[in-house]
Amino acid sequence: MAKVAIVYHSGFGHTKVLAEAVARGASSVDGTVVDLISVADAEAKADTINAADAIIFGSPTYMGSVSGPFKTWADTTAKVWFGQGWKDKIAAGFTNSSGPSGDKFSTIAYLWTLAMQHSMIWVSQGVMVGTKQGDVTLNRLSSWGGVMATSENAAPGESNPSKDDQASGFGLGARVATLASKLKG
Ligand SMILES: Cc1cc2nc3c(=O)[nH]c(=O)nc-3n(C[C@H](O)[C@H](O)[C@H](O)COP(=O)(O)O)c2cc1C
Repeated sequence: MAKVAIVYHSGFGHTKVLAEAVARGASSVDGTVVDLISVADAEAKADTINAADAIIFGSPTYMGSVSGPFKTWADTTAKVWFGQGWKDKIAAGFTNSSGPSGDKFSTIAYLWTLAMQHSMIWVSQGVMVGTKQGDVTLNRLSSWGGVMATSENAAPGESNPSKDDQASGFGLGARVATLASKLKG
């Protein structure tokens, strides 16, 4: 049984909608235990995160990188880093911002760097750009390194970020859970 932890920050709720889609995707893989953890609770839930087979990082893009609260939590993981406690765990990442680009790639690149410092195994989005799946389009924003979403400047909700981007998040969660289960044997 693979354990997947999703650790995310969301200042206004948009990235939370995406994080929930990622969690639904991971949960769709039989036997996966999924923990959706806000960075506000992440230090208190360190044991759960440290016991996970895969950790998916999620942050809004603020000023072209991860948000301050996400980075503050990431810095606390230096304690685990000293002992390389996350070595060989699977990692992946997602971000959301208001601009179509909005420099979101910098955020994905930071999440990758965090994973590399922890000697984790990075999982890409793994979906061809613009793949049609029923009435949604996956990897709409052409992001190979992780899932990117764009939110409208309106309240977060069922369609904000878009159904397309939520479906991409679902796909990332399912891909990570599948690979974590395979790696665990
Ligand atoms: C401090 C701050 C910085 C931001 N910087 C960016 C940015 O660099 N690029 C962008 O496209 N949007 C930027 N935005 C917009 C947010 O990414 C957008 O509002 C997003 O939906 C916030 O996600 P959240 O609701 O999960 O906090 C910024 C917003 C804030 C509050």
